[in-house]
Amino acid sequence: MTVTSVVGLQWGDEAKGKIVDILTDSHEIVVRYQGGNNAGHTVKFDGETYKLSLLPTGILRPGVTAVIGNGLVVNPEALLKEMKSLTDRGVRCDGGNLLVSDRAHVILPYHIVEDAVFEKRRGAEAIGTTGRGIGTAYRDKALRSHAIRIGDLYHPASFRSRLTEIVAAKNLMLKALDPNVETLDAEAIFASYTDYAEQIKPHVIDTTAYLHKALKAGKNMLFEGAQGSLLDVDHGTFPYVTSSNSSSAGIHSGSGIPQRAINRMIGIVKAYTTRVGGGPFPTELNNATGQHIRDVGHEYGTVTGRPRRCGWLDGVATSYGARICGVDEIAVMLLDVLAQLDELQICEAYEIRGERTTDFPSHVEDLEAAKPIYRTIPGWKQDITGARKLSDLPSGARRYVDTVAELMGLPVKFISIGPDREQTILL
Ligand code: IMP
Repeated sequence: MTVTSVVGLQWGDEAKGKIVDILTDSHEIVVRYQGGNNAGHTVKFDGETYKLSLLPTGILRPGVTAVIGNGLVVNPEALLKEMKSLTDRGVRCDGGNLLVSDRAHVILPYHIVEDAVFEKRRGAEAIGTTGRGIGTAYRDKALRSHAIRIGDLYHPASFRSRLTEIVAAKNLMLKALDPNVETLDAEAIFASYTDYAEQIKPHVIDTTAYLHKALKAGKNMLFEGAQGSLLDVDHGTFPYVTSSNSSSAGIHSGSGIPQRAINRMIGIVKAYTTRVGGGPFPTELNNATGQHIRDVGHEYGTVTGRPRRCGWLDGVATSYGARICGVDEIAVMLLDVLAQLDELQICEAYEIRGERTTDFPSHVEDLEAAKPIYRTIPGWKQDITGARKLSDLPSGARRYVDTVAELMGLPVKFISIGPDREQTILL
């Protein structure tokens, strides 16, 4: 039995979806365990491009059951829209292949309003959220008294009275923070969420119990991380993070499956670094090379369309991500994007106020002060998108991959040199 985890080791958008898609051939169940519709996965499949946000990538594979675990925050309207966009294209998406945890928390309209209000109030220090109400829904989960779980939607009397109480409090708080904000109507929210609940009912179960039975039956299971380890609320670049454990730390709490059940932990590393939203980024390139990487790599957000900040690969940050996740092997993604550059740089250490370190700082101001110390690698000026085995790669590209493996102290098992499934070198 294989229980695999695929987790991003940077600030998200490492092309995890492609590796998940390749692995779904040998896995029967794919589980998401954190986040919500802030995530963006692009998968090319049978010549078609699919953009997923809340649904696990595994939904695209016939025979695979996709699970939205208890650790997610679910916007039911967004879920229904995404399901419809798939069924309209002939992808199966019913109660037989898509399961939603009754313990997952619900994103309500006020979470989205609050996300915008809090971001506006932070001004220049805005986190740069996706604006989907993710952080505010997780805050209410931690607060408890303002939280609604998927299972609560099926208890209409208590759901209605709790919603009335919550909305009254939200209106008070929101008006105090921003007098221009529109008043929320509890009855209208109750009516629309009761309708969504009815529509998603065939999918809603106790996914924890389902996953434990599947484990006992020896089914192969894959945990699909969203965002990246450096956006993890505990281990990432706080406060410029998302609100969940987006490193592998979230698997246990977000699915109910103990960490020790996982026997293959794959870390996904983009060959360079990107980040959307605010926060420190030591290897950022605010120059023509950064723009070149953005253009060639199509580095624009799947969810928000925002241009992603681009920079060199950061060996310090990525190795930290790998340590936090307990990674056994890595996949180097989008290597083809780095072709045509004269030389490449990989950060091997930081200098922080005159001190050299390979530790990743815990405080945002120390990371802001970090100056990258680079290792320079000669570039390769040829297209590598047709390579299918290691020996097809020019020596510069091989040296680059070897350097990544050496700096991270981990074996590279996949090299991705284009978006299609075949454009993958397996090692
Ligand atoms: P939130 O998750 O919408 O609260 O946003 C918090 C931070 O996480 C912001 O910097 C977002 O840009 C970032 N973020 C959230 N989801 C993703 C993702 O899927 N890829 C990359 N960054 C993300």
